[in-house]
Amino acid sequence: MTTSKKKLDETSHLILHLTHRDAIKKGITVVSKGEGIYVYDAEGKEYIDLTAGVTRPVHLGYGNKELAKAIYDQICQMSYFTPMMFANAPAVELAEVLSKTVPGPINRFAFECDGSEAVETAMKLAKHYHYSKGEKERFKVISRKGAYHGVNGVGLRALGSIIPMRHMMEPLAPGSIFVESPYCYRCSLGLTYPDCDMACARNIEQVIEFEGPGLISAFIGEPIQQGFGALAPPEEYWPIVRKICDRYGILLIIDEVICGFGRTGKMFGFEHFNVQPDLITMAKGITSGYVPLGAVGCTDEVMEPIAIFNHLHTYGNHPVSCAAGLKTIEILKREKLIDNSADLGKYFLEGLQALTDHPTVGEVRGTGLWTAIDFTVEKKTRTPMPTEHLINMIERANQKGLIIKLAPIRQAIEFAPPLTIQKEKIDAALKIIDECITDEEQAMGL
Ligand SMILES: Cc1ncc(COP(=O)(O)O)c(C=O)c1O
Repeated sequence: MTTSKKKLDETSHLILHLTHRDAIKKGITVVSKGEGIYVYDAEGKEYIDLTAGVTRPVHLGYGNKELAKAIYDQICQMSYFTPMMFANAPAVELAEVLSKTVPGPINRFAFECDGSEAVETAMKLAKHYHYSKGEKERFKVISRKGAYHGVNGVGLRALGSIIPMRHMMEPLAPGSIFVESPYCYRCSLGLTYPDCDMACARNIEQVIEFEGPGLISAFIGEPIQQGFGALAPPEEYWPIVRKICDRYGILLIIDEVICGFGRTGKMFGFEHFNVQPDLITMAKGITSGYVPLGAVGCTDEVMEPIAIFNHLHTYGNHPVSCAAGLKTIEILKREKLIDNSADLGKYFLEGLQALTDHPTVGEVRGTGLWTAIDFTVEKKTRTPMPTEHLINMIERANQKGLIIKLAPIRQAIEFAPPLTIQKEKIDAALKIIDECITDEEQAMGL
C-alpha cells in the first residue's frame, strides 16, 4: 500500500495519537516499509529502528514472512468466531502453550485486543474473584506514580505518569490509589538505596491501612517500569510488595505488556525478581505487533470461585491473533531471540555506559534489550535535563537515520530494538547516539 503523501500535514484526514498540532504543522514522517530492524519512509529514507515500532512491540523485526503466512493461513482456515459459548483452535492452543511458558501457577488465559484491554480484563477478573468469594466491597486498585497501564476507563485509573492525558480525562474511576515508584536515581522520598530500607515498598502498608484493607482489590505494576525509562527496581522490591498483598488478601497483577516475550532477556519480566503474581497482562511482543492481541493470565486459585466471567468482546479470543501469538512464540524460542535479548542487551548497555563521560548523561539503565539514558544538567544534583533538549537529540538522531524515543516522564531517552538486532547495528546506533549527545551539548554551550 502506498500513498501520494510523502509527509502528513494539517490537511490530512487522519487523527494521530499523542501528537501535538505544532508537530503536525512541521510535517509528520509517513512510514511505508519495514525489513528486519529497518524502516523506510515514503521518501525512501532508511532508519535503524531502535524502538521496535516506537511503542516497542516488534520483537521479530519487520517483514517476517513465516509469521505473515501463519496469519494468512488462519484467515483462510477460520477468520473469526465468538469467544462466548464456543472455543476456537488457535485460542485453545495458545492458552495451552502459555500455560507451559509462564513460570509458576499461572494457568488460565483470556485473549483481548491490546494491552489496555488486558489491563481492564485483569482488573475485572480481580473484582470477580473477590465478589464471588463474598468480598463485594473490594474495588480499589493500587498503582504507582509514574506507572502506565493503558488508556481504557479502568486501566486509566492505574495510569500515574502521563499527566496531561490523565488530567484531561479526570475524574478517574473511583478507587485509584497511587504509591511511590522505586525510582532510586531521583527518590521521591529523598532517600538513598540501600539505607532507605525500601521505604517506597514498605510504605504501601500504611497506604492500605489508610484506604481500608477490605476495600482494596488489586495492586498493579510493571516489573520494570517504562515511565522513567526502563527502570528496574532493587531486587527486594517485588518480594516486599508480594508479602504486603498476601497479608491483606490483595491480588498482585504484574503488567507484562512491554516486558513479556523476551524484551528484558527473559521470557517475562517478573522472572528477574523473586516474585509470583496472581495475574499477568500481556500484549505487544505476543504477536510482535503484526496483528493486535492482548492477554491476561491468572492462577487456578483466582478462577476457582468465578462461575461465569461476565465479560464479552466481539474480538475476544480472536483466532487470527491467537494464531499469530502461537507462531511468534515458536519463532522466539526456535531462533533463541530471548538469549539474544539478554546477550546483546548487555553489550548495548556497556556501550551506553561508555557514554557516561558526557556531562549530561546521568544514569544509564537497562535489562535485556530495553535500555535508557536518564539525562541531567548537573550530575551532583541530578536535576533533569529540560525535555526540549531530549527532543532535539531525538530529532538529530532521526536526521541521521536512527529512531529513538522519549520515555513518558520526559527525562530520559529509551531504546528497545527488535530482538533480532546484531552487534554491528548496535555499534552503528551507539555511534549516532554519541554524536547526537555531543551536538546537543555543544548547542547548549557545555
Ligand atoms: C505496561 C503497559 N500496560 C498497558 C499498556 C497499554 O497497552 P496498549 O497500548 O496495547 O493498549 C501499555 C502501553 O504502552 C504498557 O506499556
